[in-house]
Amino acid sequence: MATINAVKGFKDILPDEAGKWQYVEEKAREIFSGFGIREIRPPILEKTELFQRGIGAMTDIVEKEMYTFLDHGEEYLTLRPEATASVVRAYVEHSLFAADPAAKLFTIGPMFRRERPQKGRFRQFHQINVEYLGLDDPRVDGEIILLLHHFLQSMGIAGLQLEINSLGCPACRLPFRASILKFLEGKEEGLCEDCKRRLNANPLRILDCKEEKCHKISAPAPRLLDFLCRECDDHFAGVRAALDGFSLAYTINPRMVRGLDYYTKTAFEVTMEPAGAQNAVAGGGRYNGLVSELGGPDIAGIGFAIGMERLISLLPAADETFRSFPHLFVAALGSKAVENAYHLCNRLRMKGVWVEMDYAGKSLKSQMKRADKLCCRYVLILGEKELIDKQAALRDMETGTQETINIEGWEDTLLTKLKTR
Ligand code: HAM
Repeated sequence: MATINAVKGFKDILPDEAGKWQYVEEKAREIFSGFGIREIRPPILEKTELFQRGIGAMTDIVEKEMYTFLDHGEEYLTLRPEATASVVRAYVEHSLFAADPAAKLFTIGPMFRRERPQKGRFRQFHQINVEYLGLDDPRVDGEIILLLHHFLQSMGIAGLQLEINSLGCPACRLPFRASILKFLEGKEEGLCEDCKRRLNANPLRILDCKEEKCHKISAPAPRLLDFLCRECDDHFAGVRAALDGFSLAYTINPRMVRGLDYYTKTAFEVTMEPAGAQNAVAGGGRYNGLVSELGGPDIAGIGFAIGMERLISLLPAADETFRSFPHLFVAALGSKAVENAYHLCNRLRMKGVWVEMDYAGKSLKSQMKRADKLCCRYVLILGEKELIDKQAALRDMETGTQETINIEGWEDTLLTKLKTR
């Protein structure tokens, strides 16, 4: 019968890789707890309207990349392409702001975008998301960027490049919009179809277009940074001062727009030398209008998401570092010994010791070979003679030395030995 493979762009995380994922997740939980960030787990399926309104109907994600379906003829649902809209939806739906608008939240899980699969780009990928709500001070922007940097650095990732920009607020975008539309007058024909269509609704998108011809046209375009209103300008200065205070190196990239429409003021991305902006390992920014856009009060927000596949591909530690191995192999010979070994193994397993044994009646030689292949540190040898003598042999596979242990009380002896090594 023909085999069935996974869907294109969807990837299995195999047991040998899982250790890296667990390491990254544990590190995230450990560091986030120090920053007082609590976990939230929104569902992966949402009403399509959430992303249309939240991310913006004219973004690439919403126009081209969402997995959307009509659920039994009733309503359109979408596999989440990102988590921010869902976190804010939950914050509003459960009035998490009622007692205290300030909330620091994180969520880890899969996202879905129907992009063209290529290196570092998948259709199901995973993100670590951090979202701060109800905190508008520029020092908060500095703190969240520091957190992102610290988290990536704590895993030994070198060559981090931080880029920041300010995308202003609706008040600064009005004059900017007029200016960029004027700049593009007579140049419309040279733009790609998407940009032509989006020109009037959101001219900022043109700066973000991946098409070479649009890039060329927009290169000398006016910069939003030059149109910031007083408040946004001060806020951006505050963010830069906070980063300087932490001695965090950054470059200002006035062309960074980010692919989602909810951003206001600070936007940032972390890329890796020499991967380039296409392969940002993390991105984020402030979204002060999103809570009210999704029906809540006027509450500020800022956050970031790290692409886990990209992060994991950058981990410097060797793959073996993340693998774990059995503590013990029990090589039993003869039915009575196998019976004893079987009970010993399961009692030790219930105490958290990883023990393996053979059930197929193999020779001692082939059991020793298997123990070696599994990289077991110790092998306990148990045959009919050992049962009569009430003593079993414990071999240290690393040093090649062997000792005898009394079968009476062996469970405790082994527990002490294996757990303290
Ligand atoms: P984003 O820039 O769309 O932002 O995605 C963040 C990160 O997710 C990217 O930098 C990248 O590492 C990873 N990523 C995105 N698409 C793919 C893909 N197709 N395959 C593999 N990795 C991918 C957001 O999603 C915002 N929600 C971030 C945010 C949180 N802003 C505020 N709060």
